[in-house]
Amino acid sequence: MQGPELPPWWARTTVYQIYPRSFFDTNGDGIGDLPGIVRKLDWLRDLGVETLWICPFYGSPQQDLGYDVSDYDAVAPEYGTRDDVRRLLDEAHARGMRVLADMVLNHTSIEHPWFRASRSSRTNPKRNWYIWRPGKKPGGKAPPNNWRSLVGPRGWHWDERTQEWYWASFLPFQPDLDYRNPEVQEAMLGVVRRWLAFGFDGLRLDIFHAIFKDERFEDNPFSTRLLPSEDDPDGFLQSYRRTLHHPETIAFARTLRRVANEFHDSPRFLVGEVFGQPSVLRRYCGGGAPLAGADPPNVDSDDGLHSVFLFKAMRAPFTAAGFRELVLEFEREMPAPLVPTWVFGNHDRSRRGERLGYHPEREKLSAAVQLTARGIPFVYYGEEIGMRDLALPLATAKDPLARMYRFLPDVVARKLHAAGVLLNRDACRTPMQWSAAPNAGFSDPGAAPWLPVHPAAETINVEAEERDPASILHCYRRLLQLRKDRPALQAGALTLYPEHALPPEVLAYRRSFGDDVVDVLLHFDDATRRVRLPGDCRLALVSTYPTPLPIREGEAVLRPYEALVIGR
Ligand code: NOJ
Repeated sequence: MQGPELPPWWARTTVYQIYPRSFFDTNGDGIGDLPGIVRKLDWLRDLGVETLWICPFYGSPQQDLGYDVSDYDAVAPEYGTRDDVRRLLDEAHARGMRVLADMVLNHTSIEHPWFRASRSSRTNPKRNWYIWRPGKKPGGKAPPNNWRSLVGPRGWHWDERTQEWYWASFLPFQPDLDYRNPEVQEAMLGVVRRWLAFGFDGLRLDIFHAIFKDERFEDNPFSTRLLPSEDDPDGFLQSYRRTLHHPETIAFARTLRRVANEFHDSPRFLVGEVFGQPSVLRRYCGGGAPLAGADPPNVDSDDGLHSVFLFKAMRAPFTAAGFRELVLEFEREMPAPLVPTWVFGNHDRSRRGERLGYHPEREKLSAAVQLTARGIPFVYYGEEIGMRDLALPLATAKDPLARMYRFLPDVVARKLHAAGVLLNRDACRTPMQWSAAPNAGFSDPGAAPWLPVHPAAETINVEAEERDPASILHCYRRLLQLRKDRPALQAGALTLYPEHALPPEVLAYRRSFGDDVVDVLLHFDDATRRVRLPGDCRLALVSTYPTPLPIREGEAVLRPYEALVIGR
């Protein structure tokens, strides 16, 4: 019997995020590089991840480690050459994998020739490629309005030569482009087209919610919120109403989708980095993937991004009730054919283990949610071996955000870190731990890695975890393999089992796609517990423990923090 048709690749893929600087160094300069990623492709394929997202590798003065681009068509020499990008794409594709580039549309580096021209005089033809405003007060020395940047201070910066202020949503050396200027749109859509034509399968879009701001430059309203969070970008006593989530940004998402749809050989995938509640973020998304078996076969697929990061999972209480709420919310706000995302860490946030008390069973349970709930999993490099944050002093940070806050005592930074606010993002960007060798096998033994290797690398490393069937790494392998084998996990509908059918410590859902059905039991507790199965699945398929316990008389025994996937 023929089953329903699977949705496009992007709607059922698994993504692995690579911070190139920290992944694998092939030339001994202490900096990870593109050939290093190529060298590890077999390992990545065997891990079971299907799509790689590569953080920015473009020409850049590296003030924000690549998120400050000075040449969108060049490759930073420390990472390699355009030929290396070619090889990475070809080799990944040859292994059946896809690759996403990281596209920084909102701003360039202050050293980009466009900005150099723009700031050279008020009459330069590139002047209006960026957002320039006269100041207030005589002499214009007060900023045009009260807008704050995403990271706290005012986002307006005074230019002595031309006596005006330019706007930067992030750090002062990252001036925002003005997307109300059609020339800017044309230039940046050209960049997008060129990299997609080069062979990238999609793009991760940096701070996409900031692209357009209020055209009247009205003040942002007051807010009582002090610190922004993943699900609410307001903070620093300001609501970001005039600077974020502008309706024109959502319209621009549609423009980008049309550009992505120009590539007919294989669908290109656009995922937006946007902060806010899922109900707000879904506005960025188009119709999503075609509904299996739906007639007509698809809702409009030209009307927005394919998906957005839902950072809320990083903050959910680690309980059955907490994740039940979250799954319900994701299903309500991103109903099929929209596809949610499951993100537990990235290069800006504390590593997942930090929030889970570095408890391997809890980390594995979290991996099970990430890989079995409906949505696209985004695995941050090192998450699959339980890498840890490394607390480093603000004063010597490589991260420009930390340098901006270097006046703060480290004890304050540590307190904020414990509360989930990472001022020094170096903490989650340390070199990948491949082995217990010097430099964790990331770089030549004699090299000086750009950031120190975490001392825990002696025990937490790929080689050691390969040898241990109970490791987080093997748990990822098993779950990723099962996901590849089961359409229900890749693309199936999700139905939560009612709370009354289960003990309060257990969350369970069914995934089903055509005839393919699996049930997932997630045990958020450190006891061992006997559970009556809520559905008709009886065959233990995969556990977060090396081998599942057999199911007897309709009952499963769940060990501490065990996740169990069962089939019919
Ligand atoms: C978000 C990126 O994830 C972060 O690393 C970067 O510093 C800012 N955007 C600015 O581009």
